[in-house]
Amino acid sequence: MLHSSLFWKKHFEHNITKQRVDWNQPPHITQFEKENILYSLKAWQLGETSDGKHLLAAATKYAARINDPVYPEAVKLFIKEEQKHGNNLGKYIDQLGEKRMKKDWGDTLFRKIRYLNTSMELWTITVIIVESAAQVFYQALHDATSCALLKEICTDILIDEAHHIKFQNERMFMIFQQKKFYNKAISIGLYALLFFLTIHAIWFGHGKALQAGKVSKKDFMRQMYYKFFKSMQFLHAPHADEQRAFEYKEARVLF
Ligand SMILES: [Fe+2]
Ligand SMILES: [Fe+2]
Repeated sequence: MLHSSLFWKKHFEHNITKQRVDWNQPPHITQFEKENILYSLKAWQLGETSDGKHLLAAATKYAARINDPVYPEAVKLFIKEEQKHGNNLGKYIDQLGEKRMKKDWGDTLFRKIRYLNTSMELWTITVIIVESAAQVFYQALHDATSCALLKEICTDILIDEAHHIKFQNERMFMIFQQKKFYNKAISIGLYALLFFLTIHAIWFGHGKALQAGKVSKKDFMRQMYYKFFKSMQFLHAPHADEQRAFEYKEARVLF
């Protein structure tokens, strides 16, 4: 099913009002848990704090081309939700009395790619891959700790991320449908290459924390392949009639 940008805008506006974390409880994390997960927790916190300037610029340019002025507003709210994740994780790190991370190789690499990237397609596929990994990572973090506060933070993120993937999969479908047959085939190959490189970089950086949450390398790769396969399947599903239907509806609103 495909949703309009207005639907997503309303979804994000509503979702941000949900308070799912009880900050009255103190953090309880053992030394053993800290050794396994703290580095990754700090690195993902840093990754969630981007100002989203480049993504918003790409979305604004793209939206002007397809005449969808509401899309950048939805993207702005999506970025705000990611920043909420960064703020919650940051607040948790502060409450532990730990220092927040300022620099991390994975974050630096990703920021460089973001800086150079002005294509909505590349943005969307990258976000889909990273969000899919985030789902596995935050579930592992949830399972790797006995701290009720951290578990609630992870659950809140997991609820948001499920919608983020839907939001991005739908956009990816719309972009993909504009391509001709050979272009589609080449694109799938490039997405798969990007996917392959990203999941190995994530395992290299965060395998220890994932294993602490009982996710072995084999489990991680299997879960990631399944999620990627689902996203690729979504690109090929017959949503074209629905897309035409709501393009028609939105066109009627516009004119
Ligand atoms: Fe996030
Ligand atoms: Fe997300």
